[in-house]
Amino acid sequence: MIPREKIEEVRERVSIVEVVSGYVPLTKRGQNHVGLCPFHSEKTPSFTVNEDKKLFHCFGCQASGNVVTFLMRHEGMEFPEAIRTLARRYNITIVEEKRAGKGAWELVTGVNSAAADFFTGELKAPGGVKARSYLEKRGFSLTGEIAESFRLGYAPDRWDALTGYLKAKGFDLAFAEKAGLVLKKQRGGYYDRFRGRIVFPITDARGNVVAFGGRTIVGAEPKYLNSPESPVFKKADTLFGMYQAKQNITKQGSALVVEGYFDLMAMHRDGFTNAVATMGTALTEGHIARLRGYAGCVYTLFDSDEAGKKAALRGLRLFLNEDVPSRVVLLPQGTDPDEFLGKSGPDAMKRLLKESTALMDFYLEELSNRFDLQTARGKAEYLDEVIEYLAMIKNVAERGHYSSHVATALGIEVKALYDVLNTESKQTDRASFLRTAIPAGTSRLAESTILRVILKHPELLTNEVLDCLGRFQDTFLKRVAKAVGATSGGGRFEPSDVVDSAEDEEVKSWIAGELLKQDDGFIESPEKMLEDCIEKVLNAGKPRETTRRLIKRLEESGLGEVAREIKTKLGSSSSSGSGRE
Ligand code: CTP
Ligand code: MN
Repeated sequence: MIPREKIEEVRERVSIVEVVSGYVPLTKRGQNHVGLCPFHSEKTPSFTVNEDKKLFHCFGCQASGNVVTFLMRHEGMEFPEAIRTLARRYNITIVEEKRAGKGAWELVTGVNSAAADFFTGELKAPGGVKARSYLEKRGFSLTGEIAESFRLGYAPDRWDALTGYLKAKGFDLAFAEKAGLVLKKQRGGYYDRFRGRIVFPITDARGNVVAFGGRTIVGAEPKYLNSPESPVFKKADTLFGMYQAKQNITKQGSALVVEGYFDLMAMHRDGFTNAVATMGTALTEGHIARLRGYAGCVYTLFDSDEAGKKAALRGLRLFLNEDVPSRVVLLPQGTDPDEFLGKSGPDAMKRLLKESTALMDFYLEELSNRFDLQTARGKAEYLDEVIEYLAMIKNVAERGHYSSHVATALGIEVKALYDVLNTESKQTDRASFLRTAIPAGTSRLAESTILRVILKHPELLTNEVLDCLGRFQDTFLKRVAKAVGATSGGGRFEPSDVVDSAEDEEVKSWIAGELLKQDDGFIESPEKMLEDCIEKVLNAGKPRETTRRLIKRLEESGLGEVAREIKTKLGSSSSSGSGRE
C-alpha cells in the first residue's frame, strides 16, 4: 500500500502541465493550456489542462481527470504504478505501509485483488494443468497477452484453497464473504465459492476487481458462476472488459458489445480490442451510459436466430433515448462470436462488421416483414408501431431520412406522415415533460447553480448545503451531488478531489468541465445565491397548489396514467425524509 500522504504529495508536487507536455504539445491560452486531445482524433484543440486545479478536460470527448488518471489512461498504467512513476520523476520516496482502517469498497476490492493474484498463481501452478489445457483448447495460452491483460486464473476444485490462502495472508474472512469469495459453513468457518473453474476478474473501468466470473471445467452446474451483487458490483451496470477496451474504444470511436466472457476474450485475441461484454444479460441503460463518453457508435453482436433478433431490437428504445448511434451485427444461426472467430477467422468478422446495419434500418426491415403493406390494415398497424420510434429520433436529418423511408413504404406523402409525427412528438414530449419536469424540473436550475457555486467557492460547503445536496431530484445532478458529498466527508472540500475520486465518468467529466470553463462567470454574491437556490430545492419536494390543479386537469383529460406517475413521484420525494443515504 502506498501511504495516503504520499499520494497527496505526488498530486501536490507534480506539474500536470509538465507531465502532459511530454505527450501532447500544449500552448497557453488564458489560465489554461490547450492541445490536441490524445484520447480522440480532432483538428482543433479542445483538450484543456489547468495547472492550478491540477486537472485536464477535453471539451470534445469529455475525457477528464488529473495527472494520475492521465497516465493511467494514456499509458494504461494501474493507479499505484502511475503514482510510483510520478514519484520517481519528482524524487519523492515512497515507503509502503500495511493496510489500516479502510472503507468497505477498498476492503472488497482489496480482498478481490488478493484473490485474483491467488487464482492467476494457481493457473500457472502444477495443479493448474487441466485448466491450462482447457484454455489452450479454446484458443488461449498462458503465454499470450490475453491471459495476462485479463488476469485469467484458476480456482482449484477444492473447498479450502482460496480460504486457506486468504487466511494465511491475514484477511478477515468476513470481508471475503461480503465480497462473495467464500461462503459460511453451517458449523462455523468458511469454504470457497469458486471451485474447479476458470476465473475472470471483473473490473470497473479503472481496473479495480469488483467481482469474479467463473466457468466450470469439471462439468459442474451452473456453467458460469458470478460473484453476488454487492454495492461494489451491479451486473446490469458493468461491462466486462471495459478497462482493457476503453482506450481502444476512444481511439476507434466505436465499441463492440458481445455477451460472454469467452466471446470477449476471443474478440480481443483476434484484434477487436474495442469489444466489451454484458455477461449474459440484456443491454441496459446503465451499459449504454458507460459507453457513451467513449464510443461514437455501439455495435451489438447477436446470433441471427429469432431470440437474437429480438434481443437486438430490445436495444432500440434505449439507444434512441440515449441518442447513441447503434449498429447490429448478425452472426450465423447458432453461433456466438467465439465460435464464429474460431471457425471463420478475423477477416470474416471484419466483413460482418462492415456489413452491419444501423439499428433503425434493422428495425424497419423487421417491421416490414411483420406486416402486410399491401393492405390498409397492415399499413395502419405498421404506422402505429413505427411512429413512436420516429418521434424518439433526436437528430432532425436522421428523423427526416427515416420519415421519408416510412412514407415510401406506406405509399403516403411524407407531409402526411409529418402531421402524425408532430402530434405524436408533442404527445410524447408533453407526457415526458410532465413526467420528468414537474417534480424535478422546477429545481434543476437551482440544483446546478448550487453545484456551480460550491465548485467555485468550496468554503461555502456547509452541513446545510450538504443536506440540500442529499435532496436533489434531477437524476444526473443527484449523481454529481452524491460525489461531492462523498468527497467532502469531514474536512476541507477540494473540488478537484471529486474528479480524482469519483467513480462515475460522466460526473467527473461534468465537474472538470465546470472547473475549467474559461468563461466561468463571476458570481456577485455567492452566499445569497446559494441561499436562494437551497430554498428552491427544499421547496421543490412539496407539491404546490398549481401542481395539484394540474394533476386534476390531467385526470380529467384522460391522461390519468401520467397524473398517477407524477403523484407517485411527488409522494416519494416528499416522504424521503432527510433524503440522505
Ligand atoms: N452467464 C452468466 N451466468 C450464467 C450463464 C451465462 O453470467 N449462469 C453469462 C456469462 O458471461 C457467459 C454469457 O452469459 O459468458 C453467455 O453464456 P452462454 O451463452 O451460456 O455461454 P458461452 O459464453 O457461450 O460459454 P461457453 O462458450 O464457455 O460454453
Ligand atoms: Mn460460447
